[in-house]
Amino acid sequence: MTRPKLMVANWKMHGTRADARSYAQAMARMLPGGGARVVICPPAGFLADMQPLAEGFSLGGQDCHPEPSGAYTGEHSAAMLKELGCEYVIVGHSERRQYHGETGALVRAKAEAALAAGLEPIVCIGERLEERRQGQTEAVLSRQVENSVPPLTFGTNLTIAYEPVWAIGTGLTPTSSDLHAAHERIHRQLHARFGEAARAVRVLYGGSVKAENAAEILRSPGVDGVLVGGASLKVESMAAIASSLGA
Ligand code: PGA
Repeated sequence: MTRPKLMVANWKMHGTRADARSYAQAMARMLPGGGARVVICPPAGFLADMQPLAEGFSLGGQDCHPEPSGAYTGEHSAAMLKELGCEYVIVGHSERRQYHGETGALVRAKAEAALAAGLEPIVCIGERLEERRQGQTEAVLSRQVENSVPPLTFGTNLTIAYEPVWAIGTGLTPTSSDLHAAHERIHRQLHARFGEAARAVRVLYGGSVKAENAAEILRSPGVDGVLVGGASLKVESMAAIASSLGA
């Protein structure tokens, strides 16, 4: 069973509470309709402001801790995000892997914690520029799928975001044949590992997606949606990308 395409907005550490509230109100007005497939991931501190305004879109966290509770200063559990209205959570973003030293095993534990709390994990994978230059893209992606994605059975809702690290925030994107090849490989690897249960896994593309290139990216076979950083901070570009999605 293939699921509808998804658009995920990752605000990272941007905005104010007032921005979050006005953004949510504008999104509810501007989304082209049937927008349940749009997910906004603001900083966790703004979720409570956005929760009552989340109409026509869903909320997600940008990270969660693998444990359900405990002495982990500064962290949020998946259940806490759920209580704040989240249905999704991004795990293993390359900025978390790079600046917080997150390993595949930790990312997988976070994805498992998300599933246990009833959230859909969005597991990020992607090669760095030097790995790409050394011809290691395929090996890196298959290692990350292997070590960051928890076991899947029928009914497990999980999304993967392929985000080449060199494409994030740079304005660069893969060629359409590279994009197609990467997505097909990820889908094939998931199928080899999980069989028919892998059909429910969406593979999004992320990295310099904007209103101008979203439609072309979304047409690429194997691309089941987009994860948008910088361009998601403006309601107008979000609405334009969402309309390419047919949301
Ligand atoms: P970008 O970020 O759209 O600004 O390139 C994407 C991401 O980091 O998820």
